[in-house]
Amino acid sequence: MFLLITLVISITVLLYVYFIGKNNERYWKNRGVKFYSKNKVTGIFWDFFTQNSALFEVFGDLYKQYKGEPAVGVGAVLTPSLFVIDPENVQHILQTDFNSFYHRGIDITESDRLADNILFMNGPRWKLMRQNMTPLFTSAKLKNMYYIMDKSAQDFVTYLKEHPKLWEGDCFETLLTFCNAAVCGAIFGIGTESIFDSPFLKVAKNLSGGNFKRNLALALITTTPKFAKFLGLTLFKDYEDFMIKAMMDVIQQRKKENVNRHDFADLCLNIQKNGTMKDPTSGTEIEPTYEILTAQAMFFLAAGVEPVATVIFSAFMELGRNPDILEKLHREIDENFEKHNGNITYDVINGMEYTDKVLSEAMRINPPIGFLSRKCVKDTVLPVGNIKVDSGTTVFTPIYDIHHDPDVYPEPHVFNPERFAKGNKHSDKFYMPFGLGNRMCIGERYAKLQMAAGLVHVLRHFTVKTKELKTATKFKQHFVNVRPVSADVLIIPRNVK
Ligand code: HEM
Ligand SMILES: *[C@@H]1O[C@H](CO)[C@@H](O)[C@H](O)[C@H]1NC(C)=O
Ligand SMILES: *[C@@H]1O[C@H](CO)[C@@H](O)[C@H](O)[C@H]1NC(C)=O
Ligand SMILES: *[C@@H]1O[C@H](CO)[C@@H](O)[C@H](O)[C@H]1NC(C)=O
Repeated sequence: MFLLITLVISITVLLYVYFIGKNNERYWKNRGVKFYSKNKVTGIFWDFFTQNSALFEVFGDLYKQYKGEPAVGVGAVLTPSLFVIDPENVQHILQTDFNSFYHRGIDITESDRLADNILFMNGPRWKLMRQNMTPLFTSAKLKNMYYIMDKSAQDFVTYLKEHPKLWEGDCFETLLTFCNAAVCGAIFGIGTESIFDSPFLKVAKNLSGGNFKRNLALALITTTPKFAKFLGLTLFKDYEDFMIKAMMDVIQQRKKENVNRHDFADLCLNIQKNGTMKDPTSGTEIEPTYEILTAQAMFFLAAGVEPVATVIFSAFMELGRNPDILEKLHREIDENFEKHNGNITYDVINGMEYTDKVLSEAMRINPPIGFLSRKCVKDTVLPVGNIKVDSGTTVFTPIYDIHHDPDVYPEPHVFNPERFAKGNKHSDKFYMPFGLGNRMCIGERYAKLQMAAGLVHVLRHFTVKTKELKTATKFKQHFVNVRPVSADVLIIPRNVK
């Protein structure tokens, strides 16, 4: 009897799964779109968990396999999902047809209080929060804030000099320390205490660490949002109390001090003073509680640490095996340090053109975020291939693959900062390390300043050499990030005054 019941249940489940797969396939075939039929139910997510590669690499295989197609359907259990291949379609989704694709494709669990930030918000609440956060990232604000990044970079050089062990250590981990110090400085202000063994470092690392549990949570949240909600899966829960308390302490301290430090804590204080945030057109309101402000600080911590470290690391890795480019960069850095007596201000760093080209090319070759997702919220049609996309469909758009498409960037594996020289036509439209359109990265200019500060201060006092490890190009198994792990970098002191 028991055996029979088990058998019946198993067969029912198998049949159900089979029909989901068939249905997914039929769904896209009916629209004239090719379907990735290897795993009809769990599609690329199955490959991700079984291949030990990053999710963007799995998408990369599809990109190569289906190049020339406008898009390819992929299984994501019950959610119709599309991986978009044609760059014109990508641009259409992210930029032109924003009204149909303004949703990030992730619905957070309500109890995940710190996930209630711009990155994951949608609709009118997203718009209102974005409006209120944008003022932190104006040129004037960044100029005022720049001293924090510069100070962190200088302190980092001192720290490196005092710890020769780090010169041969895991360079990426070492750079995380710098980025964390800079970001914590930008959020909470610069203290006098050592910023390189801060408790926030643990939080930031934990946020970015691509471990199995986190990858699975992200996969379920993306493919089966209802089920993920039912399970109560969360992203930022572990450090909720710690972070809210830290934010509260800083803001209350600021109220007492009454000095303007030009950091995120100041902005939060000003928002709180203004009272309820309101959007008159939609009538949406958000109460700026400590909780909601801490949630915004969380995106800052998650976005400002690992992705920025990835860019500096990629730049080091490429410089460390391209001596001509490294020498040219050293020349620009030395000239500026000598001309300005080591006082690298906001204006000085903004005038360092070669540094900018090197970093731009580092973000082309290793964009820290490998692909984007959007949820369609209004039925629409993609221009290339005339693909009908219904509300509720999840779309994935490549970044890494477009940056490595030889039709867009000839000889994509060659590190060549001159691609970004003035007058050299690189495809602006298809350069998207920070995304595109109205949801593009709010912290782009902040991030660029932080990576430039780190790069120039380190390279003023050190040089770099790339240690090739013995594997082919490899990346950490990560859901969103692009983190090369097949090479490491040696840091070597230079003789400068
Ligand atoms: C190298 C560093 C960084 C990279 C490569 C990066 C990249 C990105 C990308 C690709 C997106 C998605 C854009 C889209 O969907 O079109 C994004 C969104 C976002 N980034 Fe960054 N980011 C970086 C640093 C930062 C920093 C430092 C901050 C905060 C200060 C930040 C804040 C955000 C926010 C809030 C969003 C969500 C915007 C929205 O949905 O409206 N990012 N970033
Ligand atoms: C993050 O912290 C949680 C709980 O403290 C732990 O279970 C998890 O393994 C940590 N993740 C990483 C990547 O360190
Ligand atoms: C506070 O409100 C005033 C008036 O509405 C506005 O101009 C200002 O930008 C707001 N400040 C912040 C930090 O939101
Ligand atoms: C660096 O230059 C800026 C702007 O000219 C000035 O305000 C600052 O005091 C200088 N800092 C040092 C350490 O000389």
